[in-house]
Amino acid sequence: MSTTTKSSENWGSRVGLVLAMAGNAVGLGNFLRFPVQAIQNGGGAFIIPYLICFLIMGIPLLFVEWSMGRFGGKTGDHSTPFILNNMSRDNLWKYVGVFGIFTNLAVAAYYCYLESWTLAYVWKSLSGAFAGQSTEAVSDMFTQYVGLGTSEPIIFWVVCLLLNTWILSRGLSGGVEIAAKVGMPLLIFFGIFLAVRGITLTAGEAGAVNDGTVGLNFLWTPNFASIWDFKVWLAAAGQIFFTLSVGMGSIQCYASYMRERDDVALNAMSAGWMNEFVEVCLGAAILIPISVGYLGVEKVVEMTKTGGLGLGFRTLPYLFQQWGPLLAALAGMAWFGLLFFAGITSSLAMGTPVMGFLHDEFGWRRQTSAWAFGIAVFFLGLPTVLFFQYGVFDEYDYWAGTVSLVVFALLEIILFAWVFGMDKGWAEITRGADIKVPVFFKFVIKYVTPVVLTAVFLGSLLSSGGILDQLSNKALHAEITAATDPANLEFLKKKLFFVNLSRIGLLAVFGGIALMVYIAQLKRERDGRDKLRNDNA
Ligand code: ALA
Repeated sequence: MSTTTKSSENWGSRVGLVLAMAGNAVGLGNFLRFPVQAIQNGGGAFIIPYLICFLIMGIPLLFVEWSMGRFGGKTGDHSTPFILNNMSRDNLWKYVGVFGIFTNLAVAAYYCYLESWTLAYVWKSLSGAFAGQSTEAVSDMFTQYVGLGTSEPIIFWVVCLLLNTWILSRGLSGGVEIAAKVGMPLLIFFGIFLAVRGITLTAGEAGAVNDGTVGLNFLWTPNFASIWDFKVWLAAAGQIFFTLSVGMGSIQCYASYMRERDDVALNAMSAGWMNEFVEVCLGAAILIPISVGYLGVEKVVEMTKTGGLGLGFRTLPYLFQQWGPLLAALAGMAWFGLLFFAGITSSLAMGTPVMGFLHDEFGWRRQTSAWAFGIAVFFLGLPTVLFFQYGVFDEYDYWAGTVSLVVFALLEIILFAWVFGMDKGWAEITRGADIKVPVFFKFVIKYVTPVVLTAVFLGSLLSSGGILDQLSNKALHAEITAATDPANLEFLKKKLFFVNLSRIGLLAVFGGIALMVYIAQLKRERDGRDKLRNDNA
């Protein structure tokens, strides 16, 4: 008897699916990562490569991933190892699909920690923790927070994991979809409130040195010279991947719960463009205009060199205080609340492929697999919490949140366009489509995207500070050689140890998932489920 575990899961409504997909994409990347990337890469200099990357990589990959997912759903496959395996007769593709589980698990491990900061900061804003504090004191609070000065970060992190686990255990229509339907509108409402406040800031008002428009001008004045700067292109491509959640495996998983003739083309565009609206219109109109308004362009550029994702936690709670106690509490709640909704709708999408895999292959019930995900994220995330200052968090973000996305996207588009075949692929994209997809994209998916992705990958591999330099810890070794202060030297050596340990840990997780995929394959062969794949490819 076959033990095929056909899923009873389905999306409750089209609007729920699109909001969940948009929620998957709209995340902390839109509000924290995008502004920082834009500033670090020269403001307006960043926007042209960013928009081109959206057009030639983002949109094509959205079409590809949505249709791959729906295709896998036909045979009851909801995670990338077996979705990919379905598209070719070569068994090796399922090991490429390991990326689509690994990335979700490893990104969720550090992402949920970041998400929990936002929850803690909603609480701090409402309880008046920032009232009357100096700019240094507010910034130090964040240093203390991530340095685990109190037990608060651990408590909020565990609460956040429990919340994710609970929503996931309620399933797609009863959990994820409801979270998206509540979270997305609130997020947009909070975003508009803050963006209007940011843009209308006037110099001289409550200590502001610039109008809000100064920050916007910095971001939107195009600098055509950047077209020739390869580093800016890499940063723009990385941001497009991260923000759209392409190359992760979560889009394929969500799409696999659609029906065979449901539209993918219009849905994919709606979710993708909603993400871009939130990123480019709202994400750009809060952190940059407000911080540039009070601190000036130079200081903000300086802060992003070291502050990274922490910028929104170090500066805004202080700046909001300039608006008086009531508005400060409201703005704090809106800012960190929108970050929390953005974060949770994305981390839920990271849980679904892991659960889908456990359910499809091992017959685990929804609750059991939700808990398995929660516990795995706890143990995998613990080092990012405990050893944050030694760079473990950044290491996860680099390998799982950056490199893996590009590698997986490159391999999956080769599979889709060249192994499965572009004609079959195009038929998948256009089947049941509610819009006419421009044929231009057939050409782009077959030739342009794979070539550009290869260039991005090679660039990331070879450029200064790229994958090879990271692997050899070039920068860290240079710092160690230059260090004269014994305490600093001790710190750097510890950092080197933790950085290497994180990589070994991540590699072990990848290997562990590959082993589970191998076991699942043996199980399928034993149960006669493998035939399905061969009939399909
Ligand atoms: N796409 C998600 C974000 O932007 C992961 O945060």
